[in-house]
Amino acid sequence: MKKLYIQTYGCQMNQYDSEKIAQVLARKDYVQTDRIDNADVILLNTCAIREHAEERIYGRLGALAQHKVRRPHVQIGLAGCMAQHFRDRLLDRSPHLDFVVGPDAYRRLPSLLRGDPFVDVRLDREETYADLTPARAGGVRAWITIMRGCDKFCTFCIVPYVRGRERSVPAGAVLEQVRAAVAQGHREIVFLGQTVNAYRDGETDFGALLRAADAVDGVARIRFTSPHPSDMSESAIEAMATCATVCPQLHLPVQSGSTSVLERMERGYTVEEYLRLVERLRAAVPGLALSTDIIVGFPGETEDDIEATLALMRAVRFDSAFMFRYSRRDHTKAGKWDETVSEEEKAQRLQAVIAQQERIGAEINTNLVGQEVDVLVEGPARRRAGWLAGKTPHFKTTVFPDDGSAPGDIVRVRVASSTAHTLVGG
Ligand code: 5AD
Ligand code: SF4
Repeated sequence: MKKLYIQTYGCQMNQYDSEKIAQVLARKDYVQTDRIDNADVILLNTCAIREHAEERIYGRLGALAQHKVRRPHVQIGLAGCMAQHFRDRLLDRSPHLDFVVGPDAYRRLPSLLRGDPFVDVRLDREETYADLTPARAGGVRAWITIMRGCDKFCTFCIVPYVRGRERSVPAGAVLEQVRAAVAQGHREIVFLGQTVNAYRDGETDFGALLRAADAVDGVARIRFTSPHPSDMSESAIEAMATCATVCPQLHLPVQSGSTSVLERMERGYTVEEYLRLVERLRAAVPGLALSTDIIVGFPGETEDDIEATLALMRAVRFDSAFMFRYSRRDHTKAGKWDETVSEEEKAQRLQAVIAQQERIGAEINTNLVGQEVDVLVEGPARRRAGWLAGKTPHFKTTVFPDDGSAPGDIVRVRVASSTAHTLVGG
């Protein structure tokens, strides 16, 4: 038995891909270890979405060289989006790398580990890994990738280049995985995809898939991430409104609150269209929790544009947001444009959106004080000994004194106080 150590960076899709990688290699007698010191294979599953992510990984790769010095037989490999992005250049920059494997080539890992070839980053229009049941860690939540790739080509985004074209896992295979996850004790299912609601398998669109998963016995909660606003069809909204297990929570990336910026991002909607969609969603799913992604400092973004973004955030009142400085990426359309916003200015704009979001998030959570919420228990709270933590249907992290509940239980908790990111039970 050889030992495999995987370190995962980036999004949940990567997390899930790491599980698939473990599964491919388990068939070749590799067992996973969480101790890097006795690993035979060290694999970094990487992210290329922003420059910062890549820098961290280069740093990590440098540090890994010491393992090679002490134990020369160790094989160090790089998987995921950065592998795809850099191809041969990576081997030049990091001479102690033994192999590079792109996101559609994980089935061929065993031959890469035999040293033939070094690099396999071929993208494959068909590859969905539908037949691979991931080697899952325990836990109440199971992530299931239902589609891979992206056809949207937003001008800032590298994903279509490193992950390739959109393709969906056959509905039968998805539902099989839902049933398997339930049988393994998972209570919550999270459907993943770069544009998850673009899902389609013949007649089965995303809404139909949600309805079918909702009907599987034993599923307590269903979520999905990340949808694209343009693919938020009537069928999907209707499924959210009517399926009891589909949570009243949605991560709906807007990116900017300025229509002219959105146009240059080629997002495919205006601010007014986004706001109308939010209205429709809230009418269909009362109390819907909304979160979003925001990019500041996109080329050409003016003071008026950032004010418009702040105004949109006040109008929608997102529960939470991931907020990023624009990071120029090779291969993308915007990557060829001059940057017009200095790093300093980006930092200021980022600070402004974060400060406002913190205030709004805190206000929303304050309004929940005194209410009761149903918490799906995940385990001990990270920062408070003797407390448990879990999530509400609205995806609010909630901590409460340990009452003997087990992971997977759903318990009713009265909210005694709150912060911008957490509800505290009493
Ligand atoms: N720079 C900054 N943020 C980016 N994102 C994607 N590409 C970039 C980029 N080049 C953000 C978007 C997306 C999230 C996953 O990452 O907000 O929704
Ligand atoms: Fe990137 Fe746009 Fe595709 Fe999302 S929809 S993965 S932001 S190109």
